Amino acid sequence: QPLKADKTLAQKDGYRFFMEKEIYEQSRVMSETMMGRVLDKGIEFEELSNDFFNGINAIKICACGTSYHSALAAAYLFERIAKIRCDVEIASEFRYKEPLLTQDTLFITISQSGETADTLEALKMAKGAGLKSLSICNVDNSSIVRESDAAILTRAGIEKGVASTKAFATQTMVLWMLALYVGQQKNSVPTELLAREINAMLHTPKALIVTDTLHTKLHRLSKRYLHGHGFFFIGRDIFYPLALEGALKLKEISYLHAEGYPAGEMKHGPIALADSELFTIALMPKSMHYEKIKSNVEELSARDATICAISSVPFDLADDFIKTQYDSHPMLEFFEMMVVTQLLALEISVRLGNDVDMPRNLAKSVTVE
Ligand code: G6P
Repeated sequence: QPLKADKTLAQKDGYRFFMEKEIYEQSRVMSETMMGRVLDKGIEFEELSNDFFNGINAIKICACGTSYHSALAAAYLFERIAKIRCDVEIASEFRYKEPLLTQDTLFITISQSGETADTLEALKMAKGAGLKSLSICNVDNSSIVRESDAAILTRAGIEKGVASTKAFATQTMVLWMLALYVGQQKNSVPTELLAREINAMLHTPKALIVTDTLHTKLHRLSKRYLHGHGFFFIGRDIFYPLALEGALKLKEISYLHAEGYPAGEMKHGPIALADSELFTIALMPKSMHYEKIKSNVEELSARDATICAISSVPFDLADDFIKTQYDSHPMLEFFEMMVVTQLLALEISVRLGNDVDMPRNLAKSVTVE
């Protein structure tokens, strides 16, 4: 029997799945996201007028799914780098909660497709309340872009895999750049910090390169993680939203139960679940709260949880250890660990025989409520 030609093979550039291709593309698209925006002297956005942030004292971000996770990471960055108050809400919650909005708040929406119904409605509500709006989006001329006062495109290129990868990476990058930009506008970024952030941004594409060694390691490791009664992805600070995103990727394409949790919160309940059948994926960045997360992971290990540690620092108690390389800045560790969690989910899904690009029950874009 002749093999059925897979018409999408050429489009996949030789990769098995669109998701895999998109993971490998991240390094390149990240450079495009930064092009003309990350300069030695700081960040520029031609999309924003010079007075765009005048009168703005707070930021509210609304989004859904993966885009919501990039928003959560951004809230840490806006407060830390730009010294501006930032809070984040799931769009479908925001819409019905009768929120109190003040006119000095910039309303940011984040959306890969620009068509997500809940996010679009949240935007319309905020506009109705007189708020200035900015969207961060991957699709030009989409409904959300058209509805916003200004838009910054993520330049990830078309994303086909239902499980979002490169869109998340570029959204997070734009938000990091935007945090620095707002800080510049408000003169709240010391010169040294500016130089450090710009330098790290320019190194990001390197941290996103998928090496054969890493992919092979994750392929081998994935066979250990097919059974068991669940996964906890744990992290602190910006690595907590990354843990949420890692767990979401795994849920979406492997249909295994996974939760993202703030590492310091495990002792307030979830640690009761710990035994050897509980798989913990620990995000342990060297450059951010390392000792804190280490002690959280030690507590889990003492209860016999199976630990897969992702870190540049060797960790003796880990059952499995994935060594990362770029640890000079938390965002470099963030992006490198992001790739690890994406590929781990992909390899587990492949072993389970699932449809990686079109997981059951999910849609790429949810245009109904
Ligand atoms: C759907 C997709 C997710 C995505 C979410 C938000 O649920 O399956 O991958 O994160 O919608 O989509 P958006 O296009 O607004 O980012």
